[in-house]
Amino acid sequence: MDDGPLQVLTVPTAPYPDQRPGTGGLRRKVHVFQSRRYYLHNFIQSVFSSIDLRDRQGSTVVVGGDGRFFNRDAIEVVVQMAAANGVGRLIIGHHGVMSTPAVSCVVRKHKAIGGISLTAGSNPGGPEGDFGIKFNTASGGPAQEVVTNKIFQISRAIEEFAICPGLRVDLATLGKQRFDLENKFKPFTVEIVDSVESYANLLRNIFDFAALKELLSGENHINIRVDAMNGVMGPYVRRILCEELGSPANSAVNCVPLEDLGGQRPDADPTCATDLLDTMRGGEYDFGAAFDGDGDRNVILGKHGFSITPSDSVAVVAANIFCIPYFQHTGVRGFARSMPTSAALDKVAKATKIELYETPTGWRFFWNLMDAGRLSLCGEESFGTGGDHIREKDGLWAVLAWLSILAARRQSAEDIVKEHWLKYGRNYYTRYDYEDVELDAACEMMEDLETTLVDKAFAGQRFAVGEKIYQVEKADNFEYTDPVDSSISRNQGLRIVFSDGSRIVYRLSGTGTGGATVRVYIDSYEKEELFQETQVMLAPLATIALKISRLHERTGRSGPSVIT
Ligand code: G1P
Repeated sequence: MDDGPLQVLTVPTAPYPDQRPGTGGLRRKVHVFQSRRYYLHNFIQSVFSSIDLRDRQGSTVVVGGDGRFFNRDAIEVVVQMAAANGVGRLIIGHHGVMSTPAVSCVVRKHKAIGGISLTAGSNPGGPEGDFGIKFNTASGGPAQEVVTNKIFQISRAIEEFAICPGLRVDLATLGKQRFDLENKFKPFTVEIVDSVESYANLLRNIFDFAALKELLSGENHINIRVDAMNGVMGPYVRRILCEELGSPANSAVNCVPLEDLGGQRPDADPTCATDLLDTMRGGEYDFGAAFDGDGDRNVILGKHGFSITPSDSVAVVAANIFCIPYFQHTGVRGFARSMPTSAALDKVAKATKIELYETPTGWRFFWNLMDAGRLSLCGEESFGTGGDHIREKDGLWAVLAWLSILAARRQSAEDIVKEHWLKYGRNYYTRYDYEDVELDAACEMMEDLETTLVDKAFAGQRFAVGEKIYQVEKADNFEYTDPVDSSISRNQGLRIVFSDGSRIVYRLSGTGTGGATVRVYIDSYEKEELFQETQVMLAPLATIALKISRLHERTGRSGPSVIT
């Protein structure tokens, strides 16, 4: 398509003070993007300006989104600004939709200088919901702190942005579109791609599709139920699990991406994927899975809704890693988990003598290790699991990893997990979230808590609840020195480690859009009592966690908004 020379304008603007990207990029209520003049433009310009002009000129950038409300408006702006900022080529998902793992895959495949994902991940969608923008760098991973800091600094001083207001792209037609601009950067091309195919191709080279097909549609096949949660994953699930691997079409539900994500919170956890959990409880299906809105998270359920914590999930995948052909070829370079994730993975690392890294929350800390060839498999307690095939967590990859284990072992997911506990012991694990807490109250509570924890007198203290006594071994504010680039990340969560290895961690979320979200993570290791109720087992530590922080008193809450 040739729309003739398009005008490039420089538009004056004024900065906003609050455009610091959080754990998952810049996330705000939709109305913030809609009502604040040039709020989106300012941020996009800051992203482009953070890239050296020489690197930007003629370069390729990937653009995708999870299809939520405001996606199309935002893509139009991104396209118009990319052209005006010298980008040579944009690769955009069909209809502007591309999962977060696929963005990472496509950035790497096309050697793009980065990717822009229009997503607020697992936050609610629709006009009253959230919208977000995430920038990934050339490796395909979420921008690291040096980059996000630079973007933030630019956004605080921005005075103008560049845009081609007349440029209109057709997102519905696959293939190349060419535009001539009146400035020196020309021509500008846009390529609308079928990201499902690129992503499927990547998975074909990782897993044994013939074995998976046999598992899902062979003579002794298992029945699975997959919920795409009205998010971006529908087309990927249909193409890969149903069409290619032979799972029946009705095994996959909520496969049409909706702007309001069906009105539900599109998170991959059993408290959000309630339909899936209910269906699984009926016993008709052997294995269940769901994804979040942008497809990077996963929840795995066994028959009758047997729930597998993400911390256990990554440990089980690690223990069975050679059921995945990719790792038979690459070998295993290392394992990693975020600090608040349970230490189940550590047990496997120790037994297999594979290096284990404990990183701060957020995928950007993992991919640095992957780029350095030190990490193969990692996970976060927040339903994120992934390998070094891309630089994002990957929901469907995790599901195929589990199915590969099921195919190789011919056991149920529940039996595999229970055998795992018998061999390695069990890390009981829970997370309490207190959402939308008054920001000042949350920050003051964290500051006071830190003062208490770092006081020398705190180590050695004993806490008793009923017959259980826990003695503090150490307490600190987690700090991480990246082993690759020696960068230091401070204030990554307050943690209390007890002498039996149990841990309580407190953190403020970096992805919320209203007030503050306080997260309390509890992890306790058991060698004997392997098959008890998690909340019963962790009740004493939960009591201690609330007592030490005085969380309810300080926030005015009587209980968590969500327990996972
Ligand atoms: C949350 C999760 C974290 C994940 C991030 C992006 O961040 O806890 O593990 O990396 O979303 O998906 P938080 O809100 O805790 O900062």
